[in-house]
Amino acid sequence: MQLRRLSPLLASPRRRLRLRSPTNPSSATMSPGAAHLATAADPDEDLCASAGASEAEVPAPAPHLPPLPVSAEERLERAWAHWRRLGSPRLLVAPMVDNSELPFRMLCRRYGADAAYTPMLHSRIFSENEKYRSMEFTTCKEDRPLFVQFCANDPDILLQAAKKVEPYCDYVDINFGCPQRIARRGNYGAFLMDNLPLVKSLVQNLAANLHVPVSVKIRVFPRLEDTLAYAKMLEEAGASLVAVHGRTRDEKDGKKFRADWDAIKAVKDALRVPVLANGNIRHMEDVKNCLEHTGADGVLSAETLLENPAVFAGFRTKEWKEDGDENGDGGLDQADLVIEYLKLCEQYPVPWRMVRSHVHKMLGDWFRVHPEVREELNKQNKLTFEWLHDMVMRLKDLGGRVPLYRKETALGQTLASSNA
Ligand SMILES: Cc1cc2nc3c(=O)[nH]c(=O)nc-3n(C[C@H](O)[C@H](O)[C@H](O)COP(=O)(O)O)c2cc1C
Repeated sequence: MQLRRLSPLLASPRRRLRLRSPTNPSSATMSPGAAHLATAADPDEDLCASAGASEAEVPAPAPHLPPLPVSAEERLERAWAHWRRLGSPRLLVAPMVDNSELPFRMLCRRYGADAAYTPMLHSRIFSENEKYRSMEFTTCKEDRPLFVQFCANDPDILLQAAKKVEPYCDYVDINFGCPQRIARRGNYGAFLMDNLPLVKSLVQNLAANLHVPVSVKIRVFPRLEDTLAYAKMLEEAGASLVAVHGRTRDEKDGKKFRADWDAIKAVKDALRVPVLANGNIRHMEDVKNCLEHTGADGVLSAETLLENPAVFAGFRTKEWKEDGDENGDGGLDQADLVIEYLKLCEQYPVPWRMVRSHVHKMLGDWFRVHPEVREELNKQNKLTFEWLHDMVMRLKDLGGRVPLYRKETALGQTLASSNA
């Protein structure tokens, strides 16, 4: 792979890239989305490993396509050519605030993920605030294919933010799916479903001015015809890929509401760009069923990966174990995955709050057996790698190992798209 030296302004330790800029604009207009930047006294906001000062090697920007305008047919061809050039990834790490950060993405990639999204980044804060950029967006040359996701409600601010990351990613993604109160207050995410002209202009402006393709992540409307009109509008506006979370804006609880795979299939049938399906992926059998049912080009998984980052390598938690000879102890457990994750965090530093969150989620089953260890973790105001490694060893010594189970699921050539 062709490499290039970054300028000192883009330097990163141990081949980790952190974005910096020579300017240091005021952060006086920060939104609640960046509240954590203002609480530096909290040790959970500190980086978990120190940043060095050496220059980093990162991939040269990919030979991306010239920006729009081009004909609709040409755009479709480009969308597919780009997707194929990336290896037609089918198993993707979904965007997750505070949870799909670099070391976690790298762990999932080791265990079968073909591509990954960053957590949602706030486009205005990202374009204005150097500290936010350097804390919240890191990458490295192995971290590809990569979707960098932003929330936005101003086309020009979004473009400014996107320009800063386009050399280091394969798609700039817009989050049109966030249903949280903070998104309502900030007027972004799924609340833009009430303002489709703004949605259209966000996509159009980005697609017309970036060299990297634009993708979107959406939720469905209660009425299928609205979802289809929405998806077609996004494609016409210049989206080169659409990821569909098959729940409505009001269906926030993923455990309570099943994702609507029929709606995802309808979107896939209606669009001509690659479509990804999101929702109800708990193990590889779900991946297979989802790809077959929807005809989608790939799947995104979020909550399941947090508990079990090895899901795309065929591992299942106890909850999804089936009776039968083929369901054996896979020789891997969540404590092993935590140790691997901690080592990746030493290599690719992130704020401790992210480390703490992953340790809780990956070791949830173990903590249910030994809640006293969880209590000890909660009492630790300031974490260290040494303490965490020691905690995992103590959990193992206490016994009651919870293995991950392994089952082979052949995806085969599941549904190559007719558009491809
Ligand atoms: C901790 C967490 C953080 C999330 N953050 C984002 C985000 O930053 N951007 C986004 O588009 N979706 C976000 N989501 C939603 C997921 O990407 C995904 O759409 C949703 O969880 C449904 O997928 P699942 O059924 O596999 O969990 C988040 C989900 C979780 C659990």
